[in-house]
Amino acid sequence: MAVPQGYDLTVQQLIPGYASLARLSVALLAASPLASRPGAAVLVAGCGTGADLVEARAQRPDWQVTAIDPSAEMLAAAQQRLGPADIVWRQARVEELEAEACFAGALSVLVLQSLPDDGTKLAFLSALARSLEPGGQLVLVDLMAPERSPLQPQVAEAWLGFQRASGLLARDEDLLALTQGLHPIGEARLTALVNAAGFSDPARVFQALGYEGFLLQRAR
Ligand SMILES: C[S@@+](CC[C@H](N)C(=O)[O-])C[C@H]1O[C@@H](n2cnc3c(N)ncnc32)[C@H](O)[C@@H]1O
Repeated sequence: MAVPQGYDLTVQQLIPGYASLARLSVALLAASPLASRPGAAVLVAGCGTGADLVEARAQRPDWQVTAIDPSAEMLAAAQQRLGPADIVWRQARVEELEAEACFAGALSVLVLQSLPDDGTKLAFLSALARSLEPGGQLVLVDLMAPERSPLQPQVAEAWLGFQRASGLLARDEDLLALTQGLHPIGEARLTALVNAAGFSDPARVFQALGYEGFLLQRAR
């Protein structure tokens, strides 16, 4: 995946709360029993252009961070942004990780939503669970499928209003690049998948319109 032009600005205009997502996700993981340990090993899954990495470096410079993303362009953008930071870079999909119980915690921000629910989501989540120490936690943030509620049209309209107010609709091609090919699922399906992968039920820690953040713990 090439870095869509203007990616970093566009995600802020598209995703309500994006500016706080990385900060919040890192703060949550840093408060977990295992990742709070000094020098904890932490995996940033689907690091993209590096927003989560910048925040991890700022809040926890002691963490041993591994950043993984299959996109050479995204990784290059993150490496340029982070400079000579002490990070282990992997150009691969999480499913290809051979790591077993290596990490005290992991972040997956806006990644699962792009994977089809044909076994690919489960393989991604299973690989994350496998890579974590027992009791290790995952912060997972994604676009969720809309709920069947009579108020849903208002939520959809509010999302468009948010984008309009942020100036996004002026650049439709950026919007298309970022919203095409997503596979959002509902909370019941997410719970079934994460349980099958070896995680506890997801605890919701964040919601802004359709974007939701969850804290998950690998079974001990
Ligand atoms: C929308 S970007 C989000 C990037 C970053 N986490 C953020 O919040 O800005 C999704 C990233 O996930 C990566 N990705 C897609 N499938 C993946 C997989 N199976 N394993 C790891 N990363 C993946 C993509 O290459 C892309 O860089």
